[in-house]
Amino acid sequence: MLRFALALSAGLLIAASAAPTLLAEEPERPDLSAEALSDRDLIAHGQELFQDQCTLCHGRTAYPGKAPMLQPRRYDAEFVYDRIAFGFRDMPAWEDMFPEEDIVAMVAFIMSDGFSH
Ligand code: HEC
Repeated sequence: MLRFALALSAGLLIAASAAPTLLAEEPERPDLSAEALSDRDLIAHGQELFQDQCTLCHGRTAYPGKAPMLQPRRYDAEFVYDRIAFGFRDMPAWEDMFPEEDIVAMVAFIMSDGFSH
């Protein structure tokens, strides 16, 4: 169902490119609504991925100064998604590494009440 929606929105994007002024500057993102991100299984999956892939640089076990401690209360979900997918300075981009669902899962974990490093 998600894949269908994505294919559909990609089709719309191509259709819309004929009229570039209608395209917002915002990147294409999946559903990051509070409702979508509150799924418990998604959060648990995001936690696993985060512990495997991200704590090397972020978190207690990373050596100090390697990357900032994440402060989810200061972010919104779109910001977190963009940093993970597209990277920023020394933060690597993960969009070619993870399927979109995995990036969404990490956003869900980082924005969840249970987030900790
Ligand atoms: C190779 C080290 C490294 C790894 C691995 C890494 N990050 Fe980062 N990350 C950074 C650095 C460095 C920054 C700060 C970039 C800047 O603002 O200059 C950063 C910034 C971020 C930010 C924005 C924080 C802010 O306050 O601006 C988020 C969110 C983030 N990382 C999430 C993740 C997630 C999720 C993963 C795992 C998929 C991950 N990072 C893996 C190094 C890393």
